[in-house]
Amino acid sequence: MERFEAYLSAHLPGAPSFHPHYEEALHQMLKGGGKRFRPGLLLGVVRAYNPLLLESAYPVALAVEMLHTYSLIHDDLPAMDNADLRRGIPTLHKTYDEVTAILAGDALNTYAFELLSHAPLSDRMIVKLVRELSHNGGLNGMVLGQAIDCYFEHQRLELDQVKMLHIHKTGKLIAASLKMGAIIAGRDDLSQRLYDFGIDLGLLFQIQDDILDVTQSDEEAGKTTNNDSAKNSFVTLLGFEGAMDEAERVAGGLLKEIESFDESLRRELSPTLIKYIHRHKDS
Ligand code: IPE
Ligand code: IPE
Ligand code: MG
Ligand code: MG
Ligand code: MG
Repeated sequence: MERFEAYLSAHLPGAPSFHPHYEEALHQMLKGGGKRFRPGLLLGVVRAYNPLLLESAYPVALAVEMLHTYSLIHDDLPAMDNADLRRGIPTLHKTYDEVTAILAGDALNTYAFELLSHAPLSDRMIVKLVRELSHNGGLNGMVLGQAIDCYFEHQRLELDQVKMLHIHKTGKLIAASLKMGAIIAGRDDLSQRLYDFGIDLGLLFQIQDDILDVTQSDEEAGKTTNNDSAKNSFVTLLGFEGAMDEAERVAGGLLKEIESFDESLRRELSPTLIKYIHRHKDS
């Protein structure tokens, strides 16, 4: 992932103008760290099945990370989660203002697709990748999840509705990252299986994120925590122990599925996956 990080630094979106901080705002949250979980998954699948295409996959992985970063910038806005800290630095609306944060998010969202369109892959493959990223990141994907998350604050949902919400806001982009890796590697035969695995992985990821909200300080998490009490988080719905049990249950299913992966996929994905799948057990 060091090489991906170098690629990211060398390909920050350029927008020179006489605006005093537009370009800097675009760069801040991208550069600001983050786990790079989604690019790691996408590139892991490519490395497992067609490492010669790794370089060509970087712009695609960066496009996913840009769309994710836009979702975080908007998620932190006062109208949504009203958070002051993200990736260890003040959120964009705190450093600058809401207008800058909204527009930086808009720019990263659309630039993700511009970048993807220039990837050195066939036009046909690029269309498939655009379809996956837009479908899972947009209308019936992450955005729907965020809409339900925000609308139903202060209103208790049922467990299956909460799962649906988290599968959309978090699971679908994670699932798409794996599937996009399979598409680039020419393994369309594996794409549905990896997508389904990614939905469960995303669910685990969000349960753990909800647990972190109550167990970590802002400094430890690098983002505003203790912020979910009005939300339909797994912890508010199931309680701390119940959320831990649910994480354990989902992790167990994922471990079984990983055992059925072929050797190369297990080798490439394990370093990224294992710390998430075991994290709740250690804590
Ligand atoms: C945070 O995503 C939002 C969720 C979907 C839980 P990440 O936990 O991947 O955030 P970064 O990219 O590491 O900052
Ligand atoms: C946000 O979920 C998921 C997104 C689509 C951005 P959260 O609101 O739980 O993410 P954090 O905890 O602020 O990172
Ligand atoms: Mg949120
Ligand atoms: Mg949030
Ligand atoms: Mg959270």
